[in-house]
Amino acid sequence: MDQSESCQTPFLQQGIMAEKPKKYRVEVCFSPDEFDLYKQEYSTVVAIDVLRATTAICTAFHHGVDKIIPVSTVEEAMAYKASGYIAAAERNGKIVDGFEFGNSPFSYMGPEIKGKTIALTTTNGTRTINIAAKTHKVMVAALINLDAMIDYLTRNPCDVLLLASGWQGKFNLEDSICAGAITDALLKTGSYMSDEDSTIAAMFLYQKASVNYFGFLKASSHRRRLRNLNLNEDIKYCLTPNQTRVIPVYEDGALILLQE
Ligand code: MLT
Repeated sequence: MDQSESCQTPFLQQGIMAEKPKKYRVEVCFSPDEFDLYKQEYSTVVAIDVLRATTAICTAFHHGVDKIIPVSTVEEAMAYKASGYIAAAERNGKIVDGFEFGNSPFSYMGPEIKGKTIALTTTNGTRTINIAAKTHKVMVAALINLDAMIDYLTRNPCDVLLLASGWQGKFNLEDSICAGAITDALLKTGSYMSDEDSTIAAMFLYQKASVNYFGFLKASSHRRRLRNLNLNEDIKYCLTPNQTRVIPVYEDGALILLQE
């Protein structure tokens, strides 16, 4: 067999072009306020709020919560509380007056949440989930379930938008870094492609930050905000990857545990 023959695939030898496998799209949107610009092209949205909403949500499922109802206003959370639910409310990093639970992941580790439904409102994270859930399948990611999310999207490829919660409509570093980590891993599988500059930027940030998330985020605005509230332990926990394999998914008005 000469050199030219040995390089031909059997299909090409028969004159049939082999079809290229479809690549799925993975992109990063830096803020729920930009969601309308992106949303048409994806079947699935992964909502990310590393500090701290999606970390707290993953922690609650890891510790046995049954459902989390993400609500956008304090009034809605109060109404759930009045009708007997466990309700949690955070604004600007603090627990809202009248609620026992806020947004610290350490509040969601005790036996009192096991098997329960919690109504939760946070400054940005629950708003992000609710905006996306109107039109899309929504899953929840943070650094603490990073590899679980990557493995799921690798096994179940789809056109996916990684939606950072940011801060009050603005860009933030920690959610973008988490989105960059997921993108970086998915592109390496060969099943995904991307072409937005936001996605490239998120990957660059992740590649710089992944050596030491805590150090890289030292000056970030929400790390500063939480440090001023003496929440350093929360920050360390939220920035420690792969503490759980849970993936929360939105179904019929509430987040539940994804069952595969
Ligand atoms: C949010 O939803 O904005 C955050 O999770 C704020 C926080 O740190 O509690």
